[in-house]
Amino acid sequence: MFICSSSMQNFELQNPVKILFGKGEISKLSQEIPTSEKVLILYGGGSIKKNGVYEQVIAALKDHTYLEFGGIPANPEYEILLNALEVIKSEGITYLLAVGGGSVIDGTKFLASAALYEGESPWDILDQGIRTFEAMPFGTVLTLPATGSEMNSGAVVSRKEIGEKRGMGGPGLFPKFSVLDPTVVATIPKRQLANGLTDSYMHVMEQYLTYPVGADLQDRIAEGILSSLIETAPKILKDPSDYEAAANFMWCCTMALNGLIQKGVPTDWAVHAIGHELTALFGIDHARTLAIVAPSHYRYNLKSKMEKLVQYGERVWNITEGNSEERASKAIEKTELFFQSLDIPTRLSDYTEQYEGTAQTIGNTLNDRGWTALGEHRSLSPKDVESIVEMSY
Ligand code: NZQ
Ligand code: ZN
Repeated sequence: MFICSSSMQNFELQNPVKILFGKGEISKLSQEIPTSEKVLILYGGGSIKKNGVYEQVIAALKDHTYLEFGGIPANPEYEILLNALEVIKSEGITYLLAVGGGSVIDGTKFLASAALYEGESPWDILDQGIRTFEAMPFGTVLTLPATGSEMNSGAVVSRKEIGEKRGMGGPGLFPKFSVLDPTVVATIPKRQLANGLTDSYMHVMEQYLTYPVGADLQDRIAEGILSSLIETAPKILKDPSDYEAAANFMWCCTMALNGLIQKGVPTDWAVHAIGHELTALFGIDHARTLAIVAPSHYRYNLKSKMEKLVQYGERVWNITEGNSEERASKAIEKTELFFQSLDIPTRLSDYTEQYEGTAQTIGNTLNDRGWTALGEHRSLSPKDVESIVEMSY
């Protein structure tokens, strides 16, 4: 039985990622990667070639031996990553450098693990949830604040052929270093900025909006990140070349999912679990799936999350009137309106006309996979998930 403790839980914390934050920090790459390494630079669909990031990386690596692999798509695709794995093996690559957003970084994490994996198929790592303790060393140059992948040890990989989107992780998957230069934000399209704001906001919520355990500092840090994101959102959407806004946006996203605020507290992650299924079924951007699922998830679980919802409403949205239920409902409404203020629709039917039956499909998938106990209380069955998804139509 899952027992809810009412005090801060025991924890271990180790995050070895070296962060190089600020303007011009890309040039320091050369000092982070030994020249004896043979490097594979990995990137996405080409945005880095339009905004000067590629040139800066190449200039920094002028004394290194390197090859390039471009074309990693959003929601990094397993089949494409296998082509990169082939290059790593045939060319004797010893070090990976991801230059991109969460998709490129996650794809690189998969490759770092797969490169040393000796089992039958690298899909096992995702399918069987094999943790990665040792991997090929890799660094990252972040071009899109959102996922926090630059400072954590998790990754998510998609496999279209079988409609799956699966996670992996382990202490071997921390980047050696990550370069966070906020000037890269200037060229990010509005849609991706909104996605980054929403994803990072929801990362905090998944680790905060559960039940109180007296973890005052974790709560205050979480609320601080949420408030900073709310303040930064209109500034960065208005002018992504505003350095101050970009710097705050970038650091909030990293801090939202680098492992710090989850220590000692219960975590939820049901919104992400359900959201990944929506991406696998409809290709909806990751962040948008969260904005679809979260309001219904919180409404459905209003009672079990009541105390935290009231605290969140008061500290983040200044909601001080009404009884607990009214305040909790208002806090959820504010959250949904925040996503909408970023131009992110919050109903599944806003994204697809084929939404009928989605709830049952997802319920069945989770059931087949044995994911029968989601949420911070491990109390949400696939039937509960079906109700939540139906409420999001
Ligand atoms: O591919 P390119 O041409 O580079 O364009 C990308 C891509 O189309 C573009 N972009 C990135 N930086 C840019 C830019 N365009 C202009 N200027 C720049 N500076 O943005 C598009 C989206 O990029 P992507 O990497 O897909 O976005 P994001 O960072 O939101 O990553 C999403 C992926 O990360 C996973 C998601 O599930 C999804 O697969 N997640 C990873 C997590 C983790 N590792 O901890 C946690 C998250 O919850 C999430 O699940
Ligand atoms: Zn996320």
